[in-house]
Amino acid sequence: MNQLLSQLEDLRAEAQAALAQLDSTESSEAWYRDYLGRNGKLTALLRGLGQLSKEERPAAGQAANQVKAALEQALHERQAALKQAEMVAALSAEGVDVTLPGRPQQVGKLHPTTLTMREIIDICAQMGFQVYDAPEVETDEYNFGLLNFLPGHPAREMQDTFFTTNPDVILRTHTSPGQIRVMREHAPAPIRVVLPGKCFRNEDVTARSEMMFYQVEGLVVGRNVTFSDLKGVLLNFANQMYGEGRSIRFRKAYFPFTEPSVEVDVDCILCGGKGCRVCKQSGWLEILGAGMVHPVVLKNGGYDPAEFSGFAWGMGIERQAMLKRSIDDIRYFYENDARFLARAG
Ligand code: DAH
Repeated sequence: MNQLLSQLEDLRAEAQAALAQLDSTESSEAWYRDYLGRNGKLTALLRGLGQLSKEERPAAGQAANQVKAALEQALHERQAALKQAEMVAALSAEGVDVTLPGRPQQVGKLHPTTLTMREIIDICAQMGFQVYDAPEVETDEYNFGLLNFLPGHPAREMQDTFFTTNPDVILRTHTSPGQIRVMREHAPAPIRVVLPGKCFRNEDVTARSEMMFYQVEGLVVGRNVTFSDLKGVLLNFANQMYGEGRSIRFRKAYFPFTEPSVEVDVDCILCGGKGCRVCKQSGWLEILGAGMVHPVVLKNGGYDPAEFSGFAWGMGIERQAMLKRSIDDIRYFYENDARFLARAG
């Protein structure tokens, strides 16, 4: 009896020592098999109970049960500790550091040209202008002839043209051919439209000129449209676009499709007219070309110049964007540099 009890004690000590050595939940299963399983050491010891006398058996059985319960309890605790350690090890092995700052995603933004075009269209829409879409690929006739550029006239050389294999088909050099298309579609009804879109010129690319760029054309045709209507519309535009209290000035110019023709300046939005680097000390910034629609152009559009008059203007969208957003090189617009797009928006 005493021998059995001390064997039980030894077994408990041995099992607990072995338990402390375990290094994984997996190895704890082997431990269970070795000590508590059907063919384990405790079961083997219990077989010795049979040899004890009837009186001795209950006490010995009780002692054996205590050892078994204690070992089972110890196993559960050890398994829980091993499981926790394994989880910590797995987490640190995966290298998830939740304290690392997140990586910001680049989000898309509207291009400064699009933003500026929308601003211009919004301002004109408030003055009752509708948007008209005209083709980017034009005929020589619409781009030049019907706009009163005579064949061989030096004015054609003002705009270096991209030609196609068909000598009559070109990429439009300005949005002005849209004037003829609107007039022909709507004559003899009054017209008040803006025509935004891409234009192309076969020019050297510099800080000031690109071979592809955007313009917005404006056209008003009616029975009593005067030069002062033109001034009113453009002054309102300048105030909405560049801030209340702006002044504009007209300089005489030449365009074949308008008579008289002007170039229009706004007082420098940076120095307010005092003179600075941006306005080259002049106090003025050129923003567009304009004029009264030439009688020949009215006639080509289907309007009788004796009855109808009109005014028109054309402005570069990138130019407005550069002035408004302090961009000093037009080439940025087509480089798709995300830093520029984010900053200029
Ligand atoms: N089409 C001209 C250009 O691209 C700009 C222009 C000037 C348009 C006067 C007009 C205008 O409608 O009246 O240089």
